[in-house]
Amino acid sequence: MLLDTHGRHITDLRLSVTDRCNFRCTYCLDPGVRFLPRQELLHLDEYVRIIAACMSRGVRTLRITGGEPTLYPELDELILEAGAMGLDDMAMTTNGWAVDGERARRWLDSGLRRLTFSLDTLREDRMKEITRSRTSVKQVLRSIEVAREAGFPRPKLNMVVMRDVNEDEVVDFAQLARDRDLDVRFIEFMPLGSARDWTSKDVHTARETRAAIESRWSLRPFDGDHAHSTSVNWTFADGADGKLGFIAPVSQPFCGACNRLRITAEGRIRPCLFSHDEWDLKPILRRGSSNVELERFLIDAAWNKQSGHAIGEETFEQPERSMSAIGG
Ligand code: GTP
Ligand code: 5AD
Ligand code: SF4
Repeated sequence: MLLDTHGRHITDLRLSVTDRCNFRCTYCLDPGVRFLPRQELLHLDEYVRIIAACMSRGVRTLRITGGEPTLYPELDELILEAGAMGLDDMAMTTNGWAVDGERARRWLDSGLRRLTFSLDTLREDRMKEITRSRTSVKQVLRSIEVAREAGFPRPKLNMVVMRDVNEDEVVDFAQLARDRDLDVRFIEFMPLGSARDWTSKDVHTARETRAAIESRWSLRPFDGDHAHSTSVNWTFADGADGKLGFIAPVSQPFCGACNRLRITAEGRIRPCLFSHDEWDLKPILRRGSSNVELERFLIDAAWNKQSGHAIGEETFEQPERSMSAIGG
């Protein structure tokens, strides 16, 4: 099994399948960042082999991430192959620029169970400023509806809440959750952007976000959160549709219950989102090593998972890699 020295059991794999993204979100990806040469990235069969090795060591759930995973040319094949491997859950995070109905149905038929969308504003002018892309809010909201019509259960929508950037929209997002029966999650801004300009003042805490929403509606704690949940979830006390989740890695770290292991698109294991050490799987995959060797390497990497991230403490050092090359 994949265990670490802090007594945590790794059962969740978050696999990044590309470092590329068509957005340049201000809090994540600086326009000047160079993507990896394509030949550095792993191939489909290597991703599949990694998933199988992790599963033989107890991993039960998979989240496909990027960059933007829909830019990975073999995404549909990967979902198809992973879907046949007997996972308990397979989910994917996308910025929502390219979800069409036919493709979404194919993903669902192949075994993708859940889709999470990233959207940080409902205002078109702000969308342009934050994402530095041409994708509109309308387009992402349409993708969410397309996913639902294709049969995905209540889609999740992640909003990174930043002070003086979009904090004034948290009530609008809660309204959207009610109107469209969405699971909206408010995420505290973490120091993971390639611009490296995070300051603690930019963090709009989960407590502040919830207070702003509760000034409008009463909320009721949701009592179905799973043990490793990143979010603390609430429903509307008046019984309206929608669910709200508060993800507070900065103000209330949840590292103690972390069951996650990350692998980057070029095959580096990052035991923690904030790891400084990476474990390179590529040489192992490419020098014809056995599955046992591969699994031993995974075991060693998991064993070395750090206890947590220390954001906000004096000792904190931002990792080299930005969120766009880890995957969220
Ligand atoms: P499910 O429970 O599978 O729905 O996924 P999740 O709750 O992990 O949600 P998701 O993958 O959408 O993650 C939401 C956000 O939480 C990410 O984009 C990150 O900002 C943050 N997050 C997720 N995992 C971690 C983690 O291990 N550590 C920290 N510090 N933040 C995380
Ligand atoms: N802090 C918090 N969340 C972030 N994400 C990206 N960068 C950050 C950050 N600095 C989240 C986005 C997206 C997911 C991939 O990661 O909301 O949903
Ligand atoms: Fe897990 Fe690291 Fe995230 Fe903490 S910061 S929850 S240990 S991945």
